[in-house]
Amino acid sequence: MLQETKVVTELAGTEGLRRLEVYEAHGGYGALRKALTGMKPQEVIDEVKRSGLRGKGGAGFPAGLKWSFVPRDHPGPKYLAANADEGEPGTFKDRWIVEENPHLLIEGSIIASYAAGIDHAYVYTRGEFFTARRVLLGAIKEAYARGYLGENILGSGYALEMTVHSGAGSYECGEETALLTSLEGGRGHPKLKPPFPATHGAWGRPTVINNVETLATVPSIINRGADWYRSFGTEKSPGVKMVSISGHVEKPGNYEIPLGTPVRMILDDLGGGVWKGRELKAFAPGGSSTPLLLPGNLDTPYDYESIAEAGSMLGSGGIIVFDETTDMVRVAEILTRFYAWESCGKCTPCREGTRWMLQIYERILNGGGRMEDLDLLLDICEGIDSKSFCPFGDAALGIVRSTIQHFRAEYENYIRKHKVYKRKFMPVRHH
Ligand SMILES: Cc1cc2nc3c(=O)[nH]c(=O)nc-3n(C[C@H](O)[C@H](O)[C@H](O)COP(=O)(O)O)c2cc1C
Repeated sequence: MLQETKVVTELAGTEGLRRLEVYEAHGGYGALRKALTGMKPQEVIDEVKRSGLRGKGGAGFPAGLKWSFVPRDHPGPKYLAANADEGEPGTFKDRWIVEENPHLLIEGSIIASYAAGIDHAYVYTRGEFFTARRVLLGAIKEAYARGYLGENILGSGYALEMTVHSGAGSYECGEETALLTSLEGGRGHPKLKPPFPATHGAWGRPTVINNVETLATVPSIINRGADWYRSFGTEKSPGVKMVSISGHVEKPGNYEIPLGTPVRMILDDLGGGVWKGRELKAFAPGGSSTPLLLPGNLDTPYDYESIAEAGSMLGSGGIIVFDETTDMVRVAEILTRFYAWESCGKCTPCREGTRWMLQIYERILNGGGRMEDLDLLLDICEGIDSKSFCPFGDAALGIVRSTIQHFRAEYENYIRKHKVYKRKFMPVRHH
């Protein structure tokens, strides 16, 4: 029976954890003290590099390496942006961290900032995260009052300011360059890369962007060392990962597991298995933008490489489960509606392509689909794939392609029989 390996969630359930004195009573800010008073910034970077910590926002980029790209001798301010946008359907772990253990994120952010020579840390929270924002503001105030933020932190001579920035509630604002545009006060549109944010980020200054979970993992690595972190997970995907399990399972929720754990164990032992004793039909392994996998993939180890080999992505760690009764065409329509609505509109392939796909789904679900629509959908996917300005376009394709690949018969059934999906609610027409 798989047990959780709790690193970021170690103090989950502790009464009053949001309060500084409770966090401190459980060893909180010990890692910050250790880093600022006993380690040089480069030593912090080296330790995190050695730990193999990979970014937990989707791309899995090594965190220590990212920090090392920030130029040391650059004049003027440098920034950190903690990405708390978390707009990916099926993912709700960062929200838990910010709401339940805000000081862990603050501590990790200060250590990362110290390592990369940053002067100002922003926490970019998703617009709808009202509680997260309130909790975070309270915790930052406490941290300032205790001397963990501001001038001369813990007598080390290091200074850091921290600000919470609320987004306007847009999935695209989680994409790092769009996040920066939004942070600067602009409309959340992506920017071209290169140059990369590490050298040309917010207001053209060097900027590190890291996911909340990535930053929240840092204090444990500083406290217990890179070798300890590496003792979990696999060679290429070391350490642990929070997973958000949702959909048709008995026990949906956030769990933390060593990378490389077979999906079956995660879903059965932690998620309680498919609900109501039903069979599994499919699952998205890393959030709504990751192609669906099938029951035959259940023994795949949950790590970046193995999930990619199986044809999908580990993404942000949101496992969405669909039971045998699920209408997969309807699932594809719901998610395509999400992507069409959330497309920022900057580039034509994504703006027009997602909207066009939605129109086709509406046609199919209203009984007016044509057999050619399946090839047309795939053709539109081809027109978006790697051609949109940022990876948003690609994110919209996983559900369309994988449902057509694995559940083509369900599409054909709609089309051949002119079957109409009985809607409980009329869809909101966004365009
Ligand atoms: C459309 C889109 C949405 C994204 N949303 C988020 C998000 O909500 N949170 C996040 O941490 N990363 C998100 N990312 C990934 C970020 O661009 C970036 O890779 C990440 O914040 C870097 O942090 P990490 O290296 O710690 O993972 C998104 C990417 C794309 C393309």
